[in-house]
Amino acid sequence: MVVGAGIGGIQASLDLANSGFKVYLVEEEPTIGGRMAQLDKTFPTNDCSMCIISPKLVECGGHPNIENLTYSDLIDLKGEPGNFKASIRRRARSVDESLCTGCGECINQCLVGNRVYLDVKVVEPVLPEDERMAVNEILDKHKKSRSPLIPVLQDINSHFNYLPPPVLKYVAYKLNVSLAHILRVATFYAFFSLEPRGKHIISVCMGTACHVRGGERILEKLEDELGIKYGQTTEDKNFSLDMVRCIGCCALSPVIRVDERVYSRVRYNTVMDVVSKYG
Ligand code: FES
Repeated sequence: MVVGAGIGGIQASLDLANSGFKVYLVEEEPTIGGRMAQLDKTFPTNDCSMCIISPKLVECGGHPNIENLTYSDLIDLKGEPGNFKASIRRRARSVDESLCTGCGECINQCLVGNRVYLDVKVVEPVLPEDERMAVNEILDKHKKSRSPLIPVLQDINSHFNYLPPPVLKYVAYKLNVSLAHILRVATFYAFFSLEPRGKHIISVCMGTACHVRGGERILEKLEDELGIKYGQTTEDKNFSLDMVRCIGCCALSPVIRVDERVYSRVRYNTVMDVVSKYG
């Protein structure tokens, strides 16, 4: 038995199972994967977490020697090495696991969020007229899309330079999705911001190649000159300073990006010449 189905527990289970042992993998959360499945990148190589863990999740989920006991707690353990007796309590999932395909439809049908069953009177959130018209235009543009949420959020982010919370409430109402779901998406992607941002976004690459070629000093220089730390916006709302992990042109490092434009082989002494072009 392996307790805990994070990356360590999964790897241990796979090693044991591949050696011919029957493995019971016990996890208190409803799914295996643990913290690593929630991360974007891993230290120190900045490799994509999901690229590492996904093949292991698939193997672990379908391995004939592994029985996944998710949403379960180890409540008692007696015995000695070689002869343990464990008591596991499995919590009710309220879905038939043998039929579950992971489609997520049960989330849509959940009574907690279902307005029809709960009979809650939903009132259209009020927005200033110009904002309402701008958002309606964006919603109209994507109304034929099967999953309009991300494109809608992208356009709102470009229009307002961030995602204003009242606008998100309005979008939730219009698209008939929960605000919690919108916030989950909005906070997952670094591209989106829930805080007002500057007219120009300066992103300093801190991927491995840029880091070793002076990315950190360039960031320091920008912080000193603009008088803000990364993640902040200048008082005149002209610049916001961000950090990104690899823009995808490592051979040209160190690089910074101002809005959509990438500047390569930026130097400590000349970085402000680049920035000053943006006023
Ligand atoms: S590390 Fe900066 S572009 Fe790849």
